[in-house]
Amino acid sequence: MTRVLEGKVAVITGAAGAIGMATSRLMAERGATIVAVDIPGTDWSKLKAALPKDTRLVTAEADVTDEPSVKAYVEKAKAECGRIDIFFNNAGIEGPVQPIESYPLEAFMQVLGVNVAGVFLGLKHVLPVMYAQGAGSIINTSSVAGLTGATGMAGYCTSKHAVVGITRVAAIEAAAKGVRVNCVNPGPIESRMMQSINTGQSGDPKLSHDLISNAVPAKRYGTPEEVAGLVAFLASDDATYCNGGFYTVDGALTAA
Ligand SMILES: NC(=O)c1ccc[n+]([C@@H]2O[C@H](COP(=O)([O-])OP(=O)(O)OC[C@H]3O[C@@H](n4cnc5c(N)ncnc54)[C@H](O)[C@@H]3O)[C@@H](O)[C@H]2O)c1
Repeated sequence: MTRVLEGKVAVITGAAGAIGMATSRLMAERGATIVAVDIPGTDWSKLKAALPKDTRLVTAEADVTDEPSVKAYVEKAKAECGRIDIFFNNAGIEGPVQPIESYPLEAFMQVLGVNVAGVFLGLKHVLPVMYAQGAGSIINTSSVAGLTGATGMAGYCTSKHAVVGITRVAAIEAAAKGVRVNCVNPGPIESRMMQSINTGQSGDPKLSHDLISNAVPAKRYGTPEEVAGLVAFLASDDATYCNGGFYTVDGALTAA
């Protein structure tokens, strides 16, 4: 395994979830220090067990929708590691699966709160750190639901389209300051989140899983590790001219 991220400090939100954990592991294997951020009360044991033994790990508990908590995890990263080279702005929730006419406003606002305001607040507080360094790479997590619609997913699709928009704004603002901002757009990934969406879609998660797998040209869901590979590339110095883009990792779903 090449240690192309040796010496770099990576802040990862939603680090205790499927994609955050796989990305934390891959970046740690490639030499990065990991600052893992997740919701207060997180059990970190699974993440710790997943990381290589020699990983330098800092954990921070924060609700990404709460600005003082976001400030606090950024300050902790700076205080304990001195810098932030990589920011994987990844925490997110799926919300309910409901047609618009019965989608509760409260749930809609909650999904926008985590998936949009959470991403915005992360950018707001990490960008100045990277500007001061004159370098950094940020990867926001959007989704194929940020590029196309999906029945019953008004909150989620709206929020993930917004992530593409804010990625573009941030990239334009940051490019001349040496900072890159991109987003990744995963398709269906084997995970708790897709299980929850599949259950909401039909009450029979296996049926939904089979139908969606069949609609993907690759005929399967992806794995968290396949998303991590793309994120780690965008984070690295192999991607120095990748800026302001969105990158699908979806088995050709959105190409079809
Ligand atoms: N799983 C998929 O198929 C899929 C596909 C496309 C995009 N995504 C996106 O990838 C990202 C990660 O998804 P995942 O599959 O790993 O889901 P997950 O539920 O396993 O992980 C999400 C993590 O975010 C954390 N989180 C939620 N709300 C938070 C908050 N307010 N403050 C701090 N942390 C919070 C959760 O505790 C959890 O650990 C999400 O943004 C999701 O929308 C997932």
